[in-house]
Amino acid sequence: MDDFNDDDFTFARPAPKPATTTTTTTTTTTPDESAASKKITKQLMPWVEKYRPERLSDVISHASILSTIDKLITTGGMPHLLLHGPPGTGKTSTALAISRQLNGGKESGMVLELNASDERGIDTVRDKIKAFAGSRAALPGVMKLVILDEADSMTKVAQFALRRVMEMYAKTTRFIIIANYVNKIISALQSRCTCFRFGPLDHDSVYKHLEMVCNEEGLEFTAEGLEHVMLLSKGDMRMCLNIMQACKAAYNIVDKPSVYLCTGAPEPEQINKIIQLLLNQNYETVLNGLIDVQIKHGLSLIDIITSLHEQLLRMNLPDGILSFVLIKLSEIEVALTAGCGDRLQLLALIGIFQIAKTMLQQQAE
Ligand SMILES: Nc1ncnc2c1ncn2[C@@H]1O[C@H](COP(=O)(O)OP(=O)(O)OP(=O)(O)O)[C@@H](O)[C@H]1O
Ligand SMILES: [Mg+2]
Repeated sequence: MDDFNDDDFTFARPAPKPATTTTTTTTTTTPDESAASKKITKQLMPWVEKYRPERLSDVISHASILSTIDKLITTGGMPHLLLHGPPGTGKTSTALAISRQLNGGKESGMVLELNASDERGIDTVRDKIKAFAGSRAALPGVMKLVILDEADSMTKVAQFALRRVMEMYAKTTRFIIIANYVNKIISALQSRCTCFRFGPLDHDSVYKHLEMVCNEEGLEFTAEGLEHVMLLSKGDMRMCLNIMQACKAAYNIVDKPSVYLCTGAPEPEQINKIIQLLLNQNYETVLNGLIDVQIKHGLSLIDIITSLHEQLLRMNLPDGILSFVLIKLSEIEVALTAGCGDRLQLLALIGIFQIAKTMLQQQAE
């Protein structure tokens, strides 16, 4: 049977109890003990989980998106949602907060949370999602919720099958589809959802949040340290919290040196030196210099490329030359990601700047 009705579904009867008698030893926990054990569990939790927002109002940044979603929930007219955007910006947290606000969260039995990168095929849609959407609601009159996380890794066939399920059970079930890359979600699904883009988190909200975490954790920090955590994380709160937890474990302080030591990323001053070397020296000197820097600071070529482009944007290079260098750097990044050898790409990097140097000289004449 492919299509089945809400009313066709009957709950399985509980299995009869076995006739044998068994003796069980029960350990009783006092409220004090359980509170203490909860406290210990919380202390050992990774900070990204410990500080995961519980309610929509705890999610930082994205004020207008959150207030719209809040209104949709309170007016009872929540549509299917598609939340998309870069990592660590609060998509999953928002979906979980919606599920808590809408029907008491996962514990209520009214929420099916699937990570589509594990369960990405048509069978999941046919079996799990359809069975859940078609089942009778445990709390009558309350919407069931299917959260499909990382849906951009679902196969196209599964996405097409989902189209129909979303329509068939629209009266009783809402879907929240989450993706990093919206263009990997078929347009038929996009058009069935209200889409919200979760962009990188804004500077001031992140700074305040990180300050709060430091105070909660008794972690010393400098303003410069937090600025560098944010610089490396580019609006990704998960990355911010992971860097800070590493700083806490290793140095018990978040300052500029601890941040760069923990992440292994090159410091801006090192990158400036590399740029000066690239733009002012001949091929051989640059090659030897770069190999020295790489060995001394343990930098990979991809780290250098990533930091180089940000620093280049802050320099006053003529537009034409800047564009040329950035396009070429992106080609090296693609080659490195595709698995090309470091050595040849390092030589290509030096070549790009040798050409840029000549272009600069020609413009000056
Ligand atoms: N807007 C936010 N407000 C508060 N905390 C946030 C926010 N975004 C991310 N975080 C923190 O980062 C962690 C990861 O966030 P979340 O899982 O919601 O990110 P995501 O957008 O789903 O990322 P991904 O695309 O990688 O799955 C959360 O547990 C929380 O600690
Ligand atoms: Mg997520």
